[in-house]
Amino acid sequence: MAEDTRQRTVILVVDDDGDIRTALEMLLAYEGYEVWTARSGEEALARLERERGAGREAGVVLTDVKMPGIDGVELLGAIRERPEPPPVVMISGHADVATAVDAMQRGAANFLEKPLEENRVLVTIRAALRERQLIAENAGLRRQLGGRWELIGESPAMQRLRDQVAHVAASEAAVLITGENGSGKEVVARNLHLAGPRRGGPFVTVNCAAIPDELIESELFGHEKGSFTGAVDRRIGHFEAAHGGTLFLDEIGDMPLAAQAKVLRALETHEVMRVGDSKTIGVDIRVIAATNADLAAAVEEKTFRLDLFYRLNVVPLRVPPLRERREDVPRLAEHFLVQLADRTGRRPRSLSAAALERLAKFDFPGNVRQLRNLIEGADVFADGPEIGIEELEQILANGPAISAPSGANVANCEEPFHAETFEQFKDSSEALFFRRKLDENEGNVKRTAERLGMQRSHLYKKLDRYDLRG
Ligand SMILES: Nc1ncnc2c1ncn2[C@@H]1O[C@H](COP(=O)(O)OP(=O)(O)OP(=O)(O)O)[C@@H](O)[C@H]1O
Ligand SMILES: [Mg+2]
Repeated sequence: MAEDTRQRTVILVVDDDGDIRTALEMLLAYEGYEVWTARSGEEALARLERERGAGREAGVVLTDVKMPGIDGVELLGAIRERPEPPPVVMISGHADVATAVDAMQRGAANFLEKPLEENRVLVTIRAALRERQLIAENAGLRRQLGGRWELIGESPAMQRLRDQVAHVAASEAAVLITGENGSGKEVVARNLHLAGPRRGGPFVTVNCAAIPDELIESELFGHEKGSFTGAVDRRIGHFEAAHGGTLFLDEIGDMPLAAQAKVLRALETHEVMRVGDSKTIGVDIRVIAATNADLAAAVEEKTFRLDLFYRLNVVPLRVPPLRERREDVPRLAEHFLVQLADRTGRRPRSLSAAALERLAKFDFPGNVRQLRNLIEGADVFADGPEIGIEELEQILANGPAISAPSGANVANCEEPFHAETFEQFKDSSEALFFRRKLDENEGNVKRTAERLGMQRSHLYKKLDRYDLRG
């Protein structure tokens, strides 16, 4: 019974010789394929067209080379012009083997010589189907990869930004991306890399705020074994790791002054020196920096070097906050719902009209990241195909919730007194505490760390541990 409900693979057999059509049809049907037959190229194309209208495609086309009217080679050409064409296997008589070989050069998957030998026919069809599946899988993977960093938004501001990205990606110029927390600076940086000539090379992210001051040099430039306490092994730095690709210096405003001088030198000379080493190593990188701080003001305050500012700010790109482009909210929300569904292999939920209306009025101090967290949280509460206003309100009720609980951290943020062990209690109270403090500071990690009197890098570790960074 199961056999009947499963969609069978379709083989389209095209031949003007009725005996060959019948023989192939019997053989293939016996193997479990569904067989469509056509007496001419014209008939084959008409059939493909008609079936496409019904949402059905041939898995493989087997076609005779010599036929009156549209012959096999012309049919091959016409099929290859269709979107996602099926593989085409040519059937040739002894006299037209040369034509069949020529057809291979025009994209035929293979050719079979008459008289047809059953086993060869089946092996050839299986190979063509397998190849087709691989191609489809590759295309799917590429779509997923592309989708991961797709810059969503049709507002004039986003269209302008996408234009700028396309333009700037082709050049090697340094780019400084500014924008509020969660506005999409990293997405922009990834797009610059993926749309440019270095897309095949590495993309290395350095979160300058998350590295303790005393380690930043060794993180950036690497170190030799034994160069300082704790340097038990030689290690290559981020500059070297990005060779041939892009180095993304995130939260550049948090880089200590001493490190700034060394970064500037590395960028000007295209060379780095590992800590504890005396020889230089050439690096070929493109640098993209990002900050949510006002770097010009930092220059005024002498916490950021003017020369490094100029070196990084060759092309400034500003990512507008979400509240300046509210029209992007529905598309972004849909994008996140599709991503969520992809992860679990189910159909994406949609937002009710009331939920969308509620979102349109929201200010999003935490920008796109906040929207994503909000959607993920509401999705956890929803159980039908639609997310309603109730699910949204449940999340919004928890306050401004910059880091609204995502599926992963709901457990960590539960009421601490429900913990069963002391360890669990400590974890859940800590998570709750940091989430609250982050919310109070609109998701600004640097400010939260200052107010809590903690090292920024230490706070980052905690946030990562409790999955509070989004
Ligand atoms: N235009 C966009 N299209 C699709 N996804 C986006 C867009 N902008 C942001 N996002 C998503 O929102 C989240 C936050 O974006 P991103 O990390 O790029 O922000 P950011 O500006 O670097 O934040 P932070 O200041 O905290 O470093 C990510 O999950 C990202 O994929
Ligand atoms: Mg970022």
